This record gives sequence, structure tokens and C-alpha cells, in this order.
Amino acid sequence: MAKKTEKRTILVTSALPYANAPLHLGHILEHTQTDIWVRFQRLTGNECTYVCADDAHGTPIMLKADELGIDPEKLINQIYENHINTFSAYNIAHDNYHTTHSEENRMLSERVFEALNKKGLIEVKVIEQLFDTSKGMFLSDRYVKGRCPKCSAEDQYGDNCEICSSTYEATDLIDPISVISETPPVVKESEHLFFKLSSLKKDIDSWLKESKVQQPVQNKLSEWLKDGLKDWDISRDSPYFGFNIPGYKDKYFYVWLDAPIGYLASHLNYLSKQDSKKFEELWSPDSKQEIYHFIGKDIMYFHALFFPAMLSSADLKTPSGIFTHGFLTLDGEKMSKSRGNFISADDFVSVLDPEYLRYYLASKLGTGVDDIDLNLEDLRQKVNSDLVNKFVNIASRSAKFITKDFNNKLSAKIDNIELLNEFIETSEMIAMCYENLELNKAMKEIMALADKANRYIDRMEPWTLIKDDKNKDLVHQICSTSINLFRILTIMLQPVTPNLAEKSFDYLNDRPTWKDIHKPLLNHNVYNFDPLLTRVEDSHITQLLELKNV
Ligand code: MSP
Ligand code: ZN
Repeated sequence: MAKKTEKRTILVTSALPYANAPLHLGHILEHTQTDIWVRFQRLTGNECTYVCADDAHGTPIMLKADELGIDPEKLINQIYENHINTFSAYNIAHDNYHTTHSEENRMLSERVFEALNKKGLIEVKVIEQLFDTSKGMFLSDRYVKGRCPKCSAEDQYGDNCEICSSTYEATDLIDPISVISETPPVVKESEHLFFKLSSLKKDIDSWLKESKVQQPVQNKLSEWLKDGLKDWDISRDSPYFGFNIPGYKDKYFYVWLDAPIGYLASHLNYLSKQDSKKFEELWSPDSKQEIYHFIGKDIMYFHALFFPAMLSSADLKTPSGIFTHGFLTLDGEKMSKSRGNFISADDFVSVLDPEYLRYYLASKLGTGVDDIDLNLEDLRQKVNSDLVNKFVNIASRSAKFITKDFNNKLSAKIDNIELLNEFIETSEMIAMCYENLELNKAMKEIMALADKANRYIDRMEPWTLIKDDKNKDLVHQICSTSINLFRILTIMLQPVTPNLAEKSFDYLNDRPTWKDIHKPLLNHNVYNFDPLLTRVEDSHITQLLELKNV
């Protein structure tokens, strides 16, 4: 029996996509993984709020708007509309999708900054940087190229050399050139504000010990911590698209300062539609709210070091855990537009039902941080064999008898109570898999149960039994048992394939939650059964491959 546990209050986020381009399938992987976990929490009765936002600030967005000849505000509004539509096409159940270019975020960023400043954690230092005189702007590492100071390799960026792997300062590059204007930059001094992370090693250490972080990530972070933390440059000079730093003319918060605060801002924006007093309560350091951030492995540093340090110094609640995933590759290779190995999220969904992708990703996602490969032919086979041939088949082969011979009413008795109980018992293990984000294991267990249901029907041969009228009751019970097994599997798959589940629940005339797995439908009226899912065809894959190369 399921234990009675207290209802948890959980806040969940996915990383904030940059507002300079449409979403790609890597973003969809992250939001799908998050969404599945969120839907599972809601299905089991927890209060789970899922917020996200566009990350609207920074140099790339400013330059992109420049290139298009529009204001950054216009660009981020256009992209915002696009992102919202794409996420809704993939059925991502955000409670709120905000933007970091918002009043809530300005207010909270200033609040955090002022708290750090009051504690003496902000220091002003003069630094030397490369300056593009024709553009009138300082150049960050990715906007300057030159020869490597160690091995003299040409065309290297301002932070490290791809040839000899050495790291250096942009000002050390030989014959540097601005990537933006292609003119040689000059060295110029400027005052920058630093967050004194080096004095917070203890806080970060103890946060890391208390929070849920996967082992490989934990190891990586401890390594970084052992090497010592450098103070973090949180200011940028004008021109910059971001928030002005209070008290500092022409200085802006670096985008990575206000981006994670954007999680709080989106939450505040959501709560202010109901009860904004709740915000202070939920974000106070001793609040019962659990907070989980889902992120890709490239942004661990910001989330596990800078962000908790910022929050705890500002007397706000730190994350309960961070869940890190690997990168999505396409047919074994890095997704890259310029190399023609790329499918946009909008293109994919114009060809295939997103639930197919959701199921495929779930069947591959575990707790590791390894990359995950999307192979379209593999997707076709997996979806057809698991969802169509195993899962939906259980219902379609039983429903026709229930309609034709039993007037769409399920029997009062279950034929195979042991099998039904096995499904019920396994549901606890599957719930654990969801909770621990072992989605691949959960999908495997669900499909193993689906195999058992199909084997049961094969063995009982209701299509033979029905030929003799004296078997009628037995056939009724066999098919009603199968429909109940199908119902349990549907509840289990609901977080992954919510639309498919909804259609199945429509047929079943039922709106169950996770705990209803324990209560089979007996003497219950269902509807006529309509086909739930079509197969993925070769032609779909061909169409997707064509889109990949445009
Ligand atoms: N704006 C920052 C995040 C700020 S969070 C306070 C950012 N944006 S991003 O658009 O580049 O990436 C958003 C998320 O997508 C990140 O978690 C990133 O790791 C993830 N992914 C980007 N490419 C990816 C794949 N190819 N595969 C899986 N996830 C990937 O970083
Ligand atoms: Zn080099």
C-alpha cells in the first residue's frame, strides 16, 4: 500500500533560454525532462510550481538586434512570442513563463546586489580590457581573436587556445582583432565590480553537502572548489543591454547576475497574480519549499557556485538540488546549424507528434550527464514497438469485445488478480524511478508490464473463447482485466505522454491520479474506442531528414 506522506511544496525551473533565437531540440530535451518530473509530482498530489523565462540580456542579444536594425526590446518580444508558442506545442506545463527584462527582475537584482554590498562582498577593481574603438565598446573573450600567446596558432579566441589548450587573458593575444568590426582593438582600463566569491568558500561547501546534486557533478564542483574560487566580475560597461547598477553610472549587471535571479522574478510575477506576500515566505532561508533547477552541464558553474553564494549572502533560500543533464546530439554528432546537423523545435513538431519525442527522450534519460543521441530511425522503431505495438495494443484488442459484446460496460470481477496486483506493486518502484529521474528505467519497467499484459491476452485468446456462448462471462472478465491493466499503464505514462493519456482517459471515462492505480474500474461504463495513436512512418523520417539539411 502507498504510504501516506505529507504534501510537498516544490518549485521547479528549467534554464532560461536566450532570447536571440528560436528553440532547438536541446532546449526541448531539458524542458521535457523537467516537465515529466513536474507532471509526476502533480499526479502524486504534491504542489509543484514550474516557472521559467527568457534570458533577455547581454551582448549577443544587443548585437543581434543591431544587426537586424531593431531595438533589443523588439527582438526579445518577438522571440518571446515564438518561444511561448513552441513550448505550448510540446505541451510543456509551465505555470509561468516570464522574461528577465522585467520590473520584478530589476527589483530583485538590485535587492540581491544591495544585500551583497552591505555585507562588504562587492569590491571595485580597475581592470584592463580590449576595447573596439570603432564600435566604442569593450570586447568580451568571444568577440576577439588573435594568435595564441603560447603556441602562436592563428584565429584563437580571447580565453583559450583550441590547438594547445592553454588558457590566457585576451590582452595576451598576439595581433588581436575585433570579431565585430574586424579592426585591431586597444587596451583600455575600466572599473569593474566584483562579487567576493573567494570569501564564501565555506558557504558553498556546506550548500554542496546539504543539497541534491548528482555524483559526477558533485565531483566536478569539489574539484573547482579545491582549486579555489576567483572573485566574480559582475559588471559590464556601456553599451550593454541589461539593468543599470544602482549608484554606478553607465555600468550594468552582467547577464549571468540577473539571469538566475530571473527564476525568482518569474515566481514573483506568478505569485503576484495571486498573493505576493507568499513570495517572502517561500523564499525565506527556513522555508519548507523545495527548489530544484534543471540545467545542462555547460552551466553548472553558475548554478552550483555563483547562484547559491548569491542567494545565501542575500538571505534567500538556496536550491534544494540541481539536476544536470548531458547534451542532445543528432545522429551521433553535435547539433550545429552551420554543419547542417540541426532540426529546430518548430520544424520537428511540424512533422511529428511531440509526444513521440517526449517518449523517446524519456526512454533515454537517466541520472547521468552523458550526451543523449537522437537517432530518427531509432525513434521510429522505439515508438512503434513500445507505444503502438505494446501499450495501445492492449486496449485496442480488448476494447472491441467490451463494445460489441458487453455494451461498453466493464465486468464486476477481475479475472487475473495476481497480474493486476503485480502491476499495482510495481507502480511503487516506478514512482521511485520518476522521483529519482531514472526515466529510462521507468519506461523499461512500464514496457515490461505491457509485455506481460499482452502475453496474458495471447494466452487467454478471448477471440477463440467468445465463439462459445458459455464463455461469455470469462471473456468479459479477461477483457475488463486487460482494460484495467491498460489504465494502470496509462497513469504511469501520463507524465511522459499527457495527450495520449488524456485521450485514453476519455475512452475510459475516468480521470485518475497516481493513487487510483490501487482502485480498479469495476462495473464501469466506458466509451467507444477510437484509435489512440498512429505509427511513425518512413515518410515522417524522410521529411525530418530533409528539414535537417536546410
Ligand atoms: N541563458 C542561459 C541560461 C540561464 S539560466 C539562469 C543559457 N541559455 S541557452 O539557451 O544557451 O541554454 C538553455 C539551456 O539549454 C541550458 O541548460 C543548456 O545547457 C541547454 N542546452 C543547450 N544546448 C543543448 C543541447 N544540445 N542539449 C541539451 N541541452 C542543451 O545557457
Ligand atoms: Zn595555443
